[in-house]
Amino acid sequence: MNGAINKQTNPTSITNTSNDGTGCDTLIRNVSVIDGSGAQPFAADVAIVNGRICRIAAVGTLDDWQATQTIDGHGKVLSPGFIDVHTHDDTNVIRQPEMFPKLSQGVTTVVVGNCGISAAPVSLKGAPPDPMNLLGDTDAFNYPTFASYVAAVNHARPSVNVAALIGHTALRSNQMDRLDRAATEPEISAMCVQLSEALAHGALGLSTGLAYGNAISAPTSEVMALAAPLAAAGGIYATHLRSEFAEILEAMEEAFQIGKHARVPVVISHLKCAGVDNWGRSGEVLAALEQAQRYQPVGCDCYPYTASSSTLDLKQVTDTFDIQVTWSEPHPAMGGKMLAAIAAEWSVDLHEAARRLQPAGAVYHGMHDDDVNRILSHPATVVGSDGLPNDPLPHPRLWGAFPRVLGYYSREKKLFPLTVAVKKMTGMSAERFGLTDRGLVREGYWADLVLFDPETVRDAATFTDPMQAAEGIETVWVNGVLSYRGGAEKIATGPRAGRFLARAGT
Ligand code: ZN
Ligand code: CU
Repeated sequence: MNGAINKQTNPTSITNTSNDGTGCDTLIRNVSVIDGSGAQPFAADVAIVNGRICRIAAVGTLDDWQATQTIDGHGKVLSPGFIDVHTHDDTNVIRQPEMFPKLSQGVTTVVVGNCGISAAPVSLKGAPPDPMNLLGDTDAFNYPTFASYVAAVNHARPSVNVAALIGHTALRSNQMDRLDRAATEPEISAMCVQLSEALAHGALGLSTGLAYGNAISAPTSEVMALAAPLAAAGGIYATHLRSEFAEILEAMEEAFQIGKHARVPVVISHLKCAGVDNWGRSGEVLAALEQAQRYQPVGCDCYPYTASSSTLDLKQVTDTFDIQVTWSEPHPAMGGKMLAAIAAEWSVDLHEAARRLQPAGAVYHGMHDDDVNRILSHPATVVGSDGLPNDPLPHPRLWGAFPRVLGYYSREKKLFPLTVAVKKMTGMSAERFGLTDRGLVREGYWADLVLFDPETVRDAATFTDPMQAAEGIETVWVNGVLSYRGGAEKIATGPRAGRFLARAGT
């Protein structure tokens, strides 16, 4: 590791000094701290010892400290590492523990298990049901208990920290012979036992993906009953709404009812107004959210793009916006083509083409700029990528979501100040998901940190060339370990330092 660190090719110079045992492990000098709380930036030196921030002091005041590693930040921004609250990295943190698409954005923690799908606890009876296939093939699912998943994460030692929700669809698939019906009482009880096991081992809460075919037959009462163990454990309820189209207000109301019944905070996942007929309704949608906030804890996450992505859903097939096919099991050569072009090539209509492509993945260009702007800038919104790491042509959010908020939305479009952008990706996120001692640059907090250049930071990933590391992310520390160096190199450095993060109190 030292050999890599001594290389001086990065604009942020890194030097080793001797450690006489009385100083700190890492001294980051001359940075502009944006601490994740929304407060104004301030100039400081930051010292790290044993993985935590031990000292934040005025520039120059730590000059006589001995540090194993000293880094000159040249006045660039030091912020908390970004927390990706909405991911599908469940099996990737184990299978590809370098987690380069996330680490290279400055992400230091991922929350897995969103949208009703999780890798644990799962016992498959065959192929993973849609959309669990987004998490990997059958052989990626090896965790019949949540405890076994936690052990596997810690054994793999990914480069980023991992916290986890438990997916409703995953529990249904464990306990039910078919998913196109409501669960029976004994099935719900068995699901509750599994959810409780997971909560006891540190899961953050429950997620649903009620819009998906394999969960949509679950009535509200099924989710309410399943949510019963959450309150005592201090868990949360995160939901991919039953509808993001015309019935979005009804779907939000259902989520609020479930949260109220279970007495737990609600997180609406990737809040959006999907479909041309739904454009312009973000004001109404956010008003409904604000109304609910008067009576219960409610928030949402959002990714900074006007296109969504998931498995190819026949219900979402339309000619009113572009749909790009990203993969297809029976027709792999169609990956990357527009659905309309495939339909024309086959001389069939869009629905028939989509049917023939199944199972498949897609990017839907179905949102309006104004709605995305309004939702992203709302004070209830935190940032989550919703990146799909197993897609051969992933939506660019997988590699670009966080730098895009900083570069495109904050610096270029001036949608909100940089301090607010950082807060939505760090301090607020940690608070909402119950990640203690993270998300802020504070003495005593874990040293999950990112040094970035506010003038150049930007996403490089595009819809046609999505696997591109961001620009302007200079250095990333995870639990105090220098884990990524950007600049011209863009390399992961040193030992991976992420760990499983259990819910507070477990
Ligand atoms: Zn979702
Ligand atoms: Cu999702």
